[in-house]
Amino acid sequence: MAFWEIYSYFYSLCLRNWFPYRRLLEDLNDALEIKEGEAILDAGCGPGLVIEEVVKENKGKRISVIGLELSKGMIKHARKRCKDFSNVMLQIADLNKNLEFPDSSFDKVVCSNTLYALENPRRVISEFYRVLKPGAAVVIANPKPNAEIKELIREHLKTLKKLTPFYRKIYHICIFVLLLPANFIVVTINKVIIRKGKSGEYYFLDKEDFQKILQEVSFKKINISSCYADQNWLVRAEKIKIRVK
Ligand SMILES: C[S@@+](CC[C@H](N)C(=O)[O-])C[C@H]1O[C@@H](n2cnc3c(N)ncnc32)[C@H](O)[C@@H]1O
Repeated sequence: MAFWEIYSYFYSLCLRNWFPYRRLLEDLNDALEIKEGEAILDAGCGPGLVIEEVVKENKGKRISVIGLELSKGMIKHARKRCKDFSNVMLQIADLNKNLEFPDSSFDKVVCSNTLYALENPRRVISEFYRVLKPGAAVVIANPKPNAEIKELIREHLKTLKKLTPFYRKIYHICIFVLLLPANFIVVTINKVIIRKGKSGEYYFLDKEDFQKILQEVSFKKINISSCYADQNWLVRAEKIKIRVK
C-alpha cells in the first residue's frame, strides 16, 4: 500500500501531461458510451483523472459517478479534483473484497489500470458483472504482458513533435521540463509495476485470458483492442438483457 501512497502525489501531478495518458482518457470515455441518466462506477479511481474526464465530457447529461479507491493519498487527490462535481461520490474501498452494492446497481463500470494489482481478477470481474444492470457494460484498461514504458515515452515525444502552434509546443516542453524530476519518479514507479507484471506478481493478462475470464463470467459482446500507445488492452463487454418470453 505504501507504494500507491507514494505514487499518488506524482500520479496526480504528472499523468495528465502525458499525451498517451490523455488519449487513454479519451478512449475510455468513448468506450463507455455514456447516456443520459446513467450511473457509473470507477473501480480503483486513483486521483480521479478518469472521473474528471467522464464528467467534463458528458456535461449536460444527468449522470452520477461513484469512485472506489483503497489508497488514502489517491482519494485525497480525487476529492480535491472532483470537489466541484456534485454528481460524484468517492469512497474508500478494497476491491479485493466484495463490492458493497446490490446486484444491478450500475449502467457502466470502468476499471483503468487497476485490475492487474488485485488479488484475483476473475473474482473482481464477476463482481463487476453482478453490480451491472442487464444491458450494461464494463470497460477495462490493463497492461499487455509485453508492456514497456519506453513505448509511452516514444509516443509522448512523437505527439509533442507533431504539435503545430508554436506556443503550444513551447508550453508543453516547459511543463515537461518543470516536471522532469516528478516525471522521472513516475517512470521509475512504472518500471517497478512492469517488473511486477513480468514476474507474475501483477496480472498483465493476455487477450485470450481476458476473453476466457469474461466468457466464464457470462459477459457477451466482448471487444478487446489496443490503447495507451499499444501497451494496454482496452476491453469492453456487456451483460446481456435476459429476454422474457
Ligand atoms: C495505476 S493507478 C490507476 C488509477 C486510475 N484508475 C487511472 O487510470 O488513472 C491504480 C490504482 O489502483 C488502486 N488500488 C490498488 N489496489 C487496490 C485495491 N485492492 N482496492 C482499491 N483500489 C486499489 C491504487 O491505489 C491506485 O490508485
